[in-house]
Amino acid sequence: MNRIYSIVILLFIIGLSRVNAQSIDTIWLSSLDINKASLGWGQPGQNKSCQGNPITINGIQYASGFGTHANSSLYISLKGGSQRFSAIVGIDDEVKVSIGTVVFSIYGAGQLLWKSNIIKAGSPPEKFDINVSRIDTLLLKVDGAGDGNGWDHADWANAYFLVSGTKPVTVGRIIEEAVILTPKNPPSPQIHGPKITGVRPGHDFLFRIPATGNRPMEFSAKGLPAGLKLDEKSGIISGNENIPGRYEVELTATNKLGSCKRKLTIAVGDQIALTPPLGWNSWNCFACAVTQEKVFAAADAMINSGLADHGWNYINIDDCWMVKPDSDDPILGGKVRDEAGNMLTNKKFPDMKALADKVHSRGLKIGIYSGPGPKTCAGYEACFMHENQDAAQFAKWGIDYLKYDWCDYEKIAKDHSLPELKKPYVTMMEALGKVDRDIVYSLCQYGMGDVWEWGAEVNGNCWRTTGDITDDWSSMEEIGFNQAGHEKYAGPGHWNDPDMLVVGKVGWGPDLHPTRLSPYEQYTHISLWALLASPLLIGCDMTQLDDFTFNLLSNDEVIDINQDPLGKQASRILQLENMEIWAKPLEDGSIAVGMFNRGMFGSKIVLKWSDLGISGKRTIRDVWTQKNLGVFDTRFEASIPSHGVKLVRIYR
Ligand code: GLA
Repeated sequence: MNRIYSIVILLFIIGLSRVNAQSIDTIWLSSLDINKASLGWGQPGQNKSCQGNPITINGIQYASGFGTHANSSLYISLKGGSQRFSAIVGIDDEVKVSIGTVVFSIYGAGQLLWKSNIIKAGSPPEKFDINVSRIDTLLLKVDGAGDGNGWDHADWANAYFLVSGTKPVTVGRIIEEAVILTPKNPPSPQIHGPKITGVRPGHDFLFRIPATGNRPMEFSAKGLPAGLKLDEKSGIISGNENIPGRYEVELTATNKLGSCKRKLTIAVGDQIALTPPLGWNSWNCFACAVTQEKVFAAADAMINSGLADHGWNYINIDDCWMVKPDSDDPILGGKVRDEAGNMLTNKKFPDMKALADKVHSRGLKIGIYSGPGPKTCAGYEACFMHENQDAAQFAKWGIDYLKYDWCDYEKIAKDHSLPELKKPYVTMMEALGKVDRDIVYSLCQYGMGDVWEWGAEVNGNCWRTTGDITDDWSSMEEIGFNQAGHEKYAGPGHWNDPDMLVVGKVGWGPDLHPTRLSPYEQYTHISLWALLASPLLIGCDMTQLDDFTFNLLSNDEVIDINQDPLGKQASRILQLENMEIWAKPLEDGSIAVGMFNRGMFGSKIVLKWSDLGISGKRTIRDVWTQKNLGVFDTRFEASIPSHGVKLVRIYR
């Protein structure tokens, strides 16, 4: 017995000495493949800042480190092989302005392991040394500290692991599978899209009845005003109606498998854009690489993909269709206006009228872009001092939507006082008021002077509330979730616009890439924008729509929330750390609710009737899957993945 006991002790001692003898290596973070990091700007710096300078914080230079830029994330697989991780973190001294502010954080095993305070440019660094011995995958994050990510050059200086087993390796972002939730529409006819549309008396009316189902399909309409006619084969209603009024029209779509009816109110009166515009815009995909062919291809794809059958109808050309003053490029340069002062197009857009006619022949509408300054943001000719003439020109071409972008007016405006901010928008409002065409007026000045408070006053049908969106989580979430409080300014005819959609293939130039939003993030993006009653302008190359993107854009119950005739924008009714609940009252008395998880990890959210101000039994419907989830008494609980959403509609 004693012998056995001694052997056990001996084996234990041998084991222990093995552990002790096991060497501990120091592995520098900068020796790993840091190119797997995602950065808000610049390049991952190996022993350098994100701008390529030696890593320097608060006057001290560090030989080793990883230079990055918020919002940044880097995943490292440790597989339990590392003991400790330490570093010194701060903003690089190459930032000379005071706006750089960041927070560093480290996650592992579903938990926050360490978080810095808010670190400012020029402030001393923070140091940490944490135990990572049980961690499988570590996530190093740097986020802006609530003031955007401008100048957030962040350094992980002297960062190293103490490693006793498996060596750390960086890994790509872990992205969930893209699951299609939207059920397919049946082959029998279904009519979708807005339930109300507005037109001014005597102005051209164009409405393509959005209907899914097998073709051929026949359309009919009862109760159309006398000035409008329907093409029974295409379902396109057009014409002019002089007599103001609300015309209650009954639409019918019929194919071999059956028929479907739906009511459409045609409101002939002062107001247009009675529901948020739905369409496409060229900027987020092509930026200045836009051409007439690409615009027409987008219009064709809108029809051929089937998206137009769900209500999408604007095809909007953004910047870069005009002549670029002083450009040597024979395609872009040349005379900016003709002898009579009419604005000319560049050679990529040889015939704007013909393009507009072609788009209209499909039953779609066409939009254009300009600005109140001498030039556009991209340096092309704009409307300054030619507003009346340009508005008349747009109308003559058959333009239905004008995005009017402040940008270069910056050098004309004396300051950012309210009268100066409003002035150019009033001038164009008056010019548009003189043309005999309905042109949706979209103000783009990034929210200056709280434009939501006066956008409707200058006849804006929508106004951008923010700077430009990009296709990453931090940009989309910061813009989307910052819309709280704007809801009281939205309503039929005038909408807050938190910028265009970044799903599908985007890229702002000739080269495109799939959106960098994960599938859950894309569900969040579309759900939130639908709840916000935002104009929905698809920003991707329409000719490269994949099934998942089509799924996001063709869910009729999601579109119905956005297009609801009551025209209410959702309010944030609950904010608990990373969880948010937004609710939008709908015309039929039901409520659309988005339950969002902005955090790094999956979590439960409880929606209480008391938070919604309702009581009694309610039926909950999952909007994305279009399935009822049951009847609930006082509350509804859901598990929401990180960056995901549960979008429901609550019925009495
Ligand atoms: C600004 C706008 C963008 C786009 C570009 C075009 O940045 O905010 O949406 O229109 O100009 O140059």
